[in-house]
Amino acid sequence: MSRDIKKVVVIGTGVIGASWCAFYLAKGLDVVATDIAPTAKASLDAYINAAWPMLEELGLSPGASLNRLGFDSVLDNALKGADLVQECGPERIDFKQDLYRHMDEILPPDVIIASSSSGLTMTDIQAKCEKHPERCVIGHPFNPPHIIPLVEVVGGAKTSEETIARAMAFYASLGKKPIRLFKALAGHVANRFQAALYKEMLYLIEEGVLSVEDADVAVSYGPGLRWGVMGQSLQWHLGGGAGGIDHFMEHLMTPLQGIMKTLGEPKVDDKLKKDVIAGVQAQLKGRSVDELADAENRVILGALALRQKVGLA
Ligand SMILES: NC(=O)c1ccc[n+]([C@@H]2O[C@H](COP(=O)([O-])OP(=O)(O)OC[C@H]3O[C@@H](n4cnc5c(N)ncnc54)[C@H](O)[C@@H]3O)[C@@H](O)[C@H]2O)c1
Repeated sequence: MSRDIKKVVVIGTGVIGASWCAFYLAKGLDVVATDIAPTAKASLDAYINAAWPMLEELGLSPGASLNRLGFDSVLDNALKGADLVQECGPERIDFKQDLYRHMDEILPPDVIIASSSSGLTMTDIQAKCEKHPERCVIGHPFNPPHIIPLVEVVGGAKTSEETIARAMAFYASLGKKPIRLFKALAGHVANRFQAALYKEMLYLIEEGVLSVEDADVAVSYGPGLRWGVMGQSLQWHLGGGAGGIDHFMEHLMTPLQGIMKTLGEPKVDDKLKKDVIAGVQAQLKGRSVDELADAENRVILGALALRQKVGLA
């Protein structure tokens, strides 16, 4: 049982939903958005208009058009004709459970319902679905989804393999980089990687090893540049020189494990929080959040384009 996905309904047009809308439009899909906030439509239009030039730079798919965006504040109207739902509503389990139960009641069984949830499990979200919980899946983007390719796909106890395979194939067909998680974890995976790194950064700052600013420099002018090209295991292959990953595992894994044993547990108190805030403010140099986000997105777009050019896509 499968259908072509031509029309995506995005529920909730806040930070993540607006970006998904821009992404799906750029990929030439029909998008209908729904949100209950009185200002949602105006905010969504403003967001997509601001994002569109970058999406044009990335390359629009055939047929991509801002005219293919619809908006309906009434959920059931918006859901009519949906091929896939990308749910981006508030991160509250009671809200999502009721919403999924309702959508499960009214949507044909082969419509995938994908949640962007960062912190809830699909097992919990689909708990009240009585008809076809097997078509519900987590499709967790990395912010902002119209720029960052990663999507973490993970099912719940009642999600079918077919749904997971269809979701993976759908995201991949749009140029996303979906990864499949075989177990549900708090924070999925990418946010856990961020948490692991940040734990050690905070620990070293707290221990007085280096400043907040230099910890950021160490990441973004050091390994962070390489992480944007290849993941850590592939990096070790390069680190192993001519012997590659085999040499690394044989000769360099032991010293690395030695460092792992010394990693710390920061005590996050008010002083540490204040130090981080001051360290971030020192780096801003008058630039707003929007200006920094725009600059970051431009660099990432350049990096993604270069990946294509050198064959590392
Ligand atoms: N913010 C992030 O960085 C991020 C990243 C990845 C995933 N997520 C996930 O995406 C989801 C949305 O997060 P967000 O940060 O965009 O939140 P947000 O608060 O910015 O947006 C939520 C939107 O849902 C709308 N809404 C509330 N009730 C609604 C209803 N009944 N019907 C339709 N819309 C309704 C709100 O008006 C709001 O616009 C969450 O599940 C979150 O975990 C967030």
